[in-house]
Amino acid sequence: MDPLLLLRESLVLVHLVGFALLLGGWTAQAVRRVHLTTTLIRTGLGIMIGSGLLLAIPFPAGIHLDYLKLGVKLAVALGIGAMFGVVITREKAGRPTDAGFWAIGVLAVLNAGIAIFWHGA
Ligand code: HEM
Repeated sequence: MDPLLLLRESLVLVHLVGFALLLGGWTAQAVRRVHLTTTLIRTGLGIMIGSGLLLAIPFPAGIHLDYLKLGVKLAVALGIGAMFGVVITREKAGRPTDAGFWAIGVLAVLNAGIAIFWHGA
């Protein structure tokens, strides 16, 4: 097997582990009705963005990447990060926000949907 292809597929695996931490951590909080972020959730997003940016490098030779799709995914991922900021800041100010917490889960599923259903040019 091409070692670069093995590396790409390993990075997709890491990317999916990040998704498990992000959405799994978020779901655990939703079920507990504690609408705050946790280290697990934040680590998951960090892994998603880190592995996603590495996957945006066009290797092995000849691979086709849709940079419009990847740009939209990066924007949504940064939006999730911004929601972390909103949730944490509002909690510290004594004005917790449920909407910010729910937005994190919705945006995470939206980005997975974009990854799967967006078939560009
Ligand atoms: C919350 C954030 C994200 C979620 C939930 C997410 C979700 C996913 C999922 C479920 C897959 C596997 C789908 C498949 O292989 O068909 C995937 C693949 C991939 N993701 Fe992400 N992702 C996120 C962020 C990012 C970011 C920020 C980038 C880079 C800018 C990125 C780049 C990629 C690439 C290059 C692949 C490989 C398949 C492809 O080319 O579409 N992802 N992502």
